[in-house]
Amino acid sequence: MQAPTLDDPDDLSFKLEREAFARAPDRSFDVSREERRLLGVEAARGRRKVVSYDPGRRRLKGWPGAQDEGEAVKAMLARFASWASDLVRDLAPSYAGRIELARASYRPRRIEDAPLSWRKDDRRLHLDAFRTRPVGGRRILRLFANVDAERERVWDLGEDFTRHARRFLPLTRPATPGVPTLLAAVGATKAVRTPYDQLMLQIHDLAKSDEGYQRTSRLRQETFEPGETWLAFTDQIPHAVVAGRMMLEQTFYLPVDALHDEQRSPLRILEHLTGRSLV
Ligand code: SIN
Ligand code: FE
Repeated sequence: MQAPTLDDPDDLSFKLEREAFARAPDRSFDVSREERRLLGVEAARGRRKVVSYDPGRRRLKGWPGAQDEGEAVKAMLARFASWASDLVRDLAPSYAGRIELARASYRPRRIEDAPLSWRKDDRRLHLDAFRTRPVGGRRILRLFANVDAERERVWDLGEDFTRHARRFLPLTRPATPGVPTLLAAVGATKAVRTPYDQLMLQIHDLAKSDEGYQRTSRLRQETFEPGETWLAFTDQIPHAVVAGRMMLEQTFYLPVDALHDEQRSPLRILEHLTGRSLV
């Protein structure tokens, strides 16, 4: 077991590991007038939950509008991905060299009128877990930017991870043997789901579908002004969006051995609670 490093107030990674949530004051992603117009067009159409951009392959997915608009949105998300990487390197320097840039996304819809399936409904408290992209124990760190010029984005936050895991673990079941391998073989998942991924997906679904939990476990609310930027380990802190429109998001992965205190990671906590190795 590694010894926890002493807290450095200039490095946001310590606060993030403790609280799973941190604002980035005075850091705002610049959106041009033309870009804002384009983002607004899709927000008004309201068809997509997520338009995603893969910085590695420079590919945009899910833009339902014209191709030239798509090119402009792609260029903006590429710029956002690089801005977000620089910002994380700057704010959390001790993760530099270990953090992995994953997808960026644009979330256009007005949250208040989102009639989505419960599983996709981020208005319900949940931990993030990816259905097609198993993380294999790596952390999910996300940077969010409220790019709406008028509306606040509002989140509810919930209980700490251990409490959350204790609540739902007894209701989880192991995967049917062979199924994770089969899903990967047919391309339904990008890699084989580990027992960790299996548990996190179930905890995600159990939380979102539990009406009692949804009603009683919202512990505090955070409001993000237009232009505000914030970060969260969304695999650790239950979160739910309450209001807002037009947000950008950048996902990063972080191996647990890059943390100051690996024992506080969801992977190690779940291993401790289940008494077995999960990756
Ligand atoms: C999320 O649930 O990860 C995103 C919430 C939001 O859309 O603000
Ligand atoms: Fe989420």
